[in-house]
Amino acid sequence: MSAAGSQLQSPNHVQSLDVDPLAGRRIFVTGGTSGLGRALVRAVHARGARVGFVARTAAAVESVARALPGSVGIVGDVAEKTAIHRIALQATGRLGGLDVLINNASSLGPVPLAPLADTECEALEQALATNLVGPFRLTRALLGALAASAREGTGAVVLNVSSDAAVQPYPGWGAYGASKAGLRHLSEIWDQELRELGIRVLSVDPGDMDTPLHALAAPEADRGTLKDPAVAAEEVLGAIVSALAALGASHLSGAKGT
Ligand SMILES: NC(=O)c1ccc[n+]([C@@H]2O[C@H](COP(=O)([O-])OP(=O)(O)OC[C@H]3O[C@@H](n4cnc5c(N)ncnc54)[C@H](OP(=O)(O)O)[C@@H]3O)[C@@H](O)[C@H]2O)c1
Repeated sequence: MSAAGSQLQSPNHVQSLDVDPLAGRRIFVTGGTSGLGRALVRAVHARGARVGFVARTAAAVESVARALPGSVGIVGDVAEKTAIHRIALQATGRLGGLDVLINNASSLGPVPLAPLADTECEALEQALATNLVGPFRLTRALLGALAASAREGTGAVVLNVSSDAAVQPYPGWGAYGASKAGLRHLSEIWDQELRELGIRVLSVDPGDMDTPLHALAAPEADRGTLKDPAVAAEEVLGAIVSALAALGASHLSGAKGT
């Protein structure tokens, strides 16, 4: 990830060492009820952020929201064109704006994984809708809120969760790999185009994690060799904190110390 451009707001706030840089920030995570997404929601909630998340299964959304008082759980499908504006409006309305968007929800495409010759067009479309077009639509729908945060000096970051399958052409991972390659490329172009607004767009590969998605894709894998999603969440948050610092984002008034 490259450093923020020189045209961005220069640091003009003294960063207090005892305040968590995520405290008080408004953070929205897609796919926040399982694996990496749930670990991210838990971690930012523990660090004093105002967190919202979306997933399709209502019972799971309610369960995570109940366990994390003050968090905002939204039931919705990021692959559904007609759901995006409702999700974006609920997120910004209930969080009071937005500083950080994490596009994490993901579809493997065909399950079990299949060579391209055996991949139904609908499975390819599902992977693209969830992993590429959904994050594009949601980012567009939230641009106004993110730009407002950037103008206010609290920083604005979009982090798109990538994969090594975005760069390695693994046989059997065609639909997923193509969608993640597209998302990675889109992230880099977004990042160039939004820098003048003071918004950074990052793409981060969390590594192989012990999650339901991994179990679905590679049921034979030795789970002992896989990363705990809580560890990956801290790495992802480290990238966001670095980007906020490079933007010169101020700590938020009223943020609690840690
Ligand atoms: N696990 C790995 O080893 C690994 C490796 C590299 C990259 N990644 C990436 O890391 C991210 C997280 O993966 P994970 O392994 O934590 O996945 P996971 O455990 O399967 O969790 C996926 C989450 O996304 C939600 N979701 C799925 N489709 C959705 C949709 N259309 N709209 C809204 N929410 C949706 C799921 O809830 P519902 O089903 O209820 O909607 C769930 O909360 C993904 O972007 C994945 O590609 C994972």
